[in-house]
Amino acid sequence: MSETAKAAVTVPSLRSRKRRTGAVPIVMVTAYDEPGARIVSNAGVDIVLVGDSVSNNVLGHQDALHIDTDVMVHHIAAVAQAHPHCLIVGDMPWMSYHLSTDEAVRNAAKLIRAGAQAVKLEGGRARLPVIEAIIRAEIPVMGHLGLTPQSVLAMGGFKVQARNIAAADALLDAAKSLEAAGCFAFVIEGVPDVVGAAVTDAIGVPTIGIGAGPSCDGQVMVFHDLLGLGSRTPPKFVRQYAEIGRIATDAIAAFAADVRGGSFPSDAESYHGSAELGEALS
Ligand code: KIV
Repeated sequence: MSETAKAAVTVPSLRSRKRRTGAVPIVMVTAYDEPGARIVSNAGVDIVLVGDSVSNNVLGHQDALHIDTDVMVHHIAAVAQAHPHCLIVGDMPWMSYHLSTDEAVRNAAKLIRAGAQAVKLEGGRARLPVIEAIIRAEIPVMGHLGLTPQSVLAMGGFKVQARNIAAADALLDAAKSLEAAGCFAFVIEGVPDVVGAAVTDAIGVPTIGIGAGPSCDGQVMVFHDLLGLGSRTPPKFVRQYAEIGRIATDAIAAFAADVRGGSFPSDAESYHGSAELGEALS
């Protein structure tokens, strides 16, 4: 286990992790269950994100719009069972913070009670009242700007955002307002590298990029993309480090062949009764 994994990662320790001050880039990886969180923690990442991407990566949906707070509570509780060395951030799912600030605070508290140490929610200026209310309830908030997957229908697909000057300016403005509202960090997803760099330069809290270029203060990657466990063709910004899906398929096919060929279980893999028991049953 690395040194980074041994030190407790806290919101205050992350808030000032800007690369321009010489800080080491922040690493965030998603996990949705106890084994995944154990792997992520043992690898020494800083933040485990229980993302609403559980909807597509684990539950088989096309997007993140099919899960509610109860589903997130279920998966956050499983991740918390791993007692990871990293900070646990729980994603607020679509419609858990869109109806009223009171309901948003109550739903954020459910994620905290399940084991999250901070929550993440998507959107810019329109979300400021909700972000401020959650922070007033002493719950740290991570923002999420750019390609916000919960807006997939409004965006007309998973499309790179802030491609023109007006949209990039609006994103910059949203980032500043999120910082002023008290977000301790935020994800920037699916924007040109120059936009990721400009936002990172303009604000004093860390940016964690995914498809936002190399200048962000950290990077986040989805567990299933990183390990080759997904069913989709990964987007351009994914670097796949292993082919666990193929390895797992080969292993299970080998088990099936052993069962069908009669070589499993072996004598060593079986419990043995006494000679007396054998005789009585024959
Ligand atoms: O849910 C998720 O996986 C995310 C990341 C893409 C940042 O929000």
